[in-house]
Amino acid sequence: MRRVRTLARRLLGRRALAGAPSPIQTSDDPEVLLPGLYERTITLGYTRWRWGHLYNDQALVFLCHLAADGTGPVVEFVTFDGRTTYNLALNLPVDGEVLTIDAGVVHDPSNVEGKTYGSFVPGECFLGAPPDVRSRIRFIQSDSRQVDLSNLYDRAGLVIVDGGHAHDVCVSDTVLALRLVRPGGVIVWDDYTPYWPGVKETLDALVRLVPLTHYPRLGLVVYADRRPGAASADPAAVARALLSHAAPSAEGRIRGG
Ligand SMILES: C[S@@+](CC[C@H](N)C(=O)[O-])C[C@H]1O[C@@H](n2cnc3c(N)ncnc32)[C@H](O)[C@@H]1O
Repeated sequence: MRRVRTLARRLLGRRALAGAPSPIQTSDDPEVLLPGLYERTITLGYTRWRWGHLYNDQALVFLCHLAADGTGPVVEFVTFDGRTTYNLALNLPVDGEVLTIDAGVVHDPSNVEGKTYGSFVPGECFLGAPPDVRSRIRFIQSDSRQVDLSNLYDRAGLVIVDGGHAHDVCVSDTVLALRLVRPGGVIVWDDYTPYWPGVKETLDALVRLVPLTHYPRLGLVVYADRRPGAASADPAAVARALLSHAAPSAEGRIRGG
């Protein structure tokens, strides 16, 4: 019976993976949107990979360059074992900070195979980090749908959305990311693929409201309002519009915004 279920998931997965074309424009050069991004030197300090990490190490390099840009606090949804967090902190300016949140959810079978992460300790990669790196990391153990980050609204230079991939969690994290990002800041999503339908549905809805760019080589989708002459979206209004279509029940998240 178990084998039948696994086979059904695999077949379903293949069908989903061959699904409709993406409405998000693609690019292979992040520097068109983010000129000069790769000019700084970055360092990677922790590169061992396991299932659950950013799928693509070029994505890690890209995020470390954004962190080195240092235009405001970094907010990371979510920590997992802290591999990305460690590398971000390593590349932040000396007075920079990465705030990272995780609820320690081992069983998040929101991909088409129902594959889970296996056991982990949230943040284990940075628990023993050198003091200058560790002091730039603030960890909050919480469900990302419950956490209060209102003190950071409109301040974050970089927000990374790579947490729970169920549709309601991804919508909630995305709405919060839109509230947190500062003018000129950047939001990045991992796992935009039919393999994670909750992420794909969220971003396919969001792209009707704001410009997004998909970098297949990095495996990331990016929102940035840095293009010269582009009218800035009002992230709070976008968040409201996204919620009213996607998850009206979660609208309390942005009430008053
Ligand atoms: C794909 S992994 C994150 C990978 C991580 N961003 C990285 O770069 O290594 C998914 C994580 O989502 C967390 N998670 C799932 N649902 C959550 C929720 N509602 N609130 C907070 N964390 C959640 C799990 O605990 C797990 O650590």
